[in-house]
Amino acid sequence: MSRVRSRYVCQECGAVAAQWAGRCDACGGWNSFVEEPAGDGPPRSLGGGNAKARRVEFVGLTGASEPAPRRVTGIAEFDRVCGGGLVPGSALLVGGDPGIGKSTLLLQVVAALAAGRGGAPLRCVYVSGEEAIDQVRMRAQRLGVEKTSVQLAAATSIRDIAASLDVVGGPDAVVIDSIQTMYLDTLDSAPGTVGQVRAAAQELIRLAKRVGFTLVLVGHVTKEGLIAGPRVLEHMVDTVLYFEGERGHQFRILRAVKNRFGPTDEIGVFEMTDAGLSEVPNPSALFLAERRGDVSGAAVFAGMEGTRPVLVEIQALVSPSPLGTPRRAVIGWDSARLAMVMAVLDTRCGLAVGGNDVYLNVAGGLRIAEPAADLAVAAALISALKDRPVPADAVIFGEIGLSGEIRSVSQTDARLKEAGKLGFSQAFAPLRRGRAKPAPTGIRIEEVGHLDELIGLVGAATPSRRRVMAGD
Ligand code: TYD
Ligand code: MG
Repeated sequence: MSRVRSRYVCQECGAVAAQWAGRCDACGGWNSFVEEPAGDGPPRSLGGGNAKARRVEFVGLTGASEPAPRRVTGIAEFDRVCGGGLVPGSALLVGGDPGIGKSTLLLQVVAALAAGRGGAPLRCVYVSGEEAIDQVRMRAQRLGVEKTSVQLAAATSIRDIAASLDVVGGPDAVVIDSIQTMYLDTLDSAPGTVGQVRAAAQELIRLAKRVGFTLVLVGHVTKEGLIAGPRVLEHMVDTVLYFEGERGHQFRILRAVKNRFGPTDEIGVFEMTDAGLSEVPNPSALFLAERRGDVSGAAVFAGMEGTRPVLVEIQALVSPSPLGTPRRAVIGWDSARLAMVMAVLDTRCGLAVGGNDVYLNVAGGLRIAEPAADLAVAAALISALKDRPVPADAVIFGEIGLSGEIRSVSQTDARLKEAGKLGFSQAFAPLRRGRAKPAPTGIRIEEVGHLDELIGLVGAATPSRRRVMAGD
């Protein structure tokens, strides 16, 4: 038997090596190389006629281009994250942990499109490679969308699927659940490997562009938070959305991480119910629902997610550490950023936080990436350390510089307005520069120029019921 030459492809990043290795040099992934037959070359196209070259027509930058037409689903939280609806001929990747609710969300999306909730009813196809027809039907019943005209199929062969979609009067929107289960018979490697996923996606994307349907690919995410195996996939599609949330929590967040047709910092918030995902038009109220105002170690951060203000509670617990290296646990925020805020509190304000165990949690399971949360984190830490509650009617935002100065952040007015809407009456915020607009009525702004001033503000109103601990 002649030896078939092989190559080894990293399933994390797509790097190719001649020999198997335990660790990928390119991405540092362990045990990620999988053998594939060499000489596969670029995947062959299935359809498409002969390859005679045609002259490419070049045009200028100005010209009458219409804005991309949109297919609005009528699920407002989803439409906003997509930048105003789905774009015909585009490809969208929805990633997320197994069991997070991707299939549910997308079945609701195609059902809404088919029912014409956001415009004219559209022809929608849902191809499941993971579940049997009956399972999908049962889910549709649970969601109450079984009467819509969505066409179902359980299939995994790209050749079959492509042939079925490439017909006159074909679909307007196609969901492929999931891309990791699809395979192309022109390749020898197994479904789910980088080669297969890439080739299958390429084939479908090409077809979507040609026929003009909106392609939605579902992709599983690995433990490390990458869309399983092929990061290459992220480059091939127009839009990448992540569906995320804590398992123990009821709500889910849809986040755009790449969008050729819209902004990338929007989020959509959904709540899981027995009857599927329901939209949460006012997430702040949800995130603050279980808040108790009179405890120490909690501060309300007035944040922005894209164009939308979102208020969340940041909780801190500070306790003397028995360990040589104190413990740090952070959920929902960047631990390097926490270390920085603690160092500034230590060095610039003389608060001895460093020797304690510190736990920080963003209540409700939201992940915050904004530096504007610095000041709220600092307030929660100070409050925990001094065992004094932060005034219950205050929201906090501002970025902390290394010398302890508080830097201004964007969209102050939107933050204040949201705080006012939810019944807060004061805000600890950076200094307002000269031409700042007056604050929305009902909100008093406590300007904080330096972190020192925050220490005075925290616990100024009501002393805590249980008094002072070490470090005061
Ligand atoms: P599913 O949509 O299958 O997740 P994924 O496709 O990401 O793997 O949902 C996982 C489970 O959660 C499924 O058993 C149904 C349940 N579920 C609800 O009961 N209500 C909901 O709103 C959602 C989203 C899921
Ligand atoms: Mg699924």
